[in-house]
Amino acid sequence: MAARQFTGFDGSPLLAQESGSRHAPTVLLLPDLGASGEAWASVAAALSDAGRNSIVLEWRRGADTFGTDALVSDLHAVLHQLSSRPVIIANGSAAYIAAVALGEGGPDLASGLALVETIPGGGSTSAASADLAERAAAAIAETGCPILLLAHGEDFFPAARETQHIECSAAAPSPEVPDRRDAFHACLIDFLERRAPRTATEYVAGSDPRTLRDALGTFATGVTIVTATAPDGRHIGLTANSFTSVSLEPPLLLVCPARSAGSMPVLEKAEFFAVNVLHIGQQGVSNLFAAKGEDRFAETEFELWDRGVPILANALASFECRKYAEYDGGDHVILVGEVERVRYAPQRDPLLYFRGKYRRLHFA
Ligand SMILES: Cc1cc2nc3c(=O)[nH]c(=O)nc-3n(C[C@H](O)[C@H](O)[C@H](O)COP(=O)(O)O)c2cc1C
Repeated sequence: MAARQFTGFDGSPLLAQESGSRHAPTVLLLPDLGASGEAWASVAAALSDAGRNSIVLEWRRGADTFGTDALVSDLHAVLHQLSSRPVIIANGSAAYIAAVALGEGGPDLASGLALVETIPGGGSTSAASADLAERAAAAIAETGCPILLLAHGEDFFPAARETQHIECSAAAPSPEVPDRRDAFHACLIDFLERRAPRTATEYVAGSDPRTLRDALGTFATGVTIVTATAPDGRHIGLTANSFTSVSLEPPLLLVCPARSAGSMPVLEKAEFFAVNVLHIGQQGVSNLFAAKGEDRFAETEFELWDRGVPILANALASFECRKYAEYDGGDHVILVGEVERVRYAPQRDPLLYFRGKYRRLHFA
């Protein structure tokens, strides 16, 4: 985040925090009146990760004591100082101010508007005064830009529900489900991608190993621990994301361990192996089974089923397999297993891996 300063309608400074590239399309985030821009920090981070330039504006000091006109004028002033038309995302009373500013200032000031009742983890929201709500109701009908309404109840911005060009979503956190941060971010990103797409996708091209690795890293995967037992009873296990389901009849899966892996001599000879899919809380297990020089099973809870290979306690899913085939895969081996026994936890989220980093699921 970098500090940025705008000038209000009367020349007074308005502070903002900016993140993401200035060349990326801008999203202007407006905190509720009386709230700090900090409430938008995690959303700003998620949006800049998604390739947006996020600007979190702080209203002028004591904004809730200024009249609507002053705040609308400040917003007009900021919009004129931006080099492109942003999507505005605002919550609580600020959502009403934003609707007034766009409805009364002309539709060309912004390329989209998201009206948010509550930010997950952002505290309670102020209610708009009757005057402001009435003025916003008239203004919203004039805003030609796409609008997203994120509200859990019927009380927030009722006029918005009646307009034609509005999309409603229930991703706003409700009192029953207070923290739905990921779903909330996903909903905003989805709106931005559809309604304010980036002008051109930037590609990186090449045939060198780095480019190939990075391109392959765009395929998001889960994370597994492949385990087996040596003839002397020693257990081996390594982290692998090169896991794929292959066939249901017969039930086959595959995983690709590197020829250079320390586990390879055991895997090559093993008649049985297991694939343990990790859940979101098992990033430490993934790191442990990828690190050199650690006793991987010293602190790891596991059990043995019919074939004597380690089945990790708490895994999201475990597949006990008989080796079905082994193919040449260049500097890796394509190990195909026939699944003999399986167990999975239907209510847990997976640990994901994407572009060389762990991720967690959010819903589209
Ligand atoms: C997320 C992640 C995915 C990985 N996927 C694979 C894989 O599919 N195949 C592989 O051979 N190594 C993979 N690795 C690297 C191995 O886990 C790592 O080299 C490990 O130290 C191998 O252990 P070993 O040499 O004791 O067999 C992965 C590592 C991480 C962190």
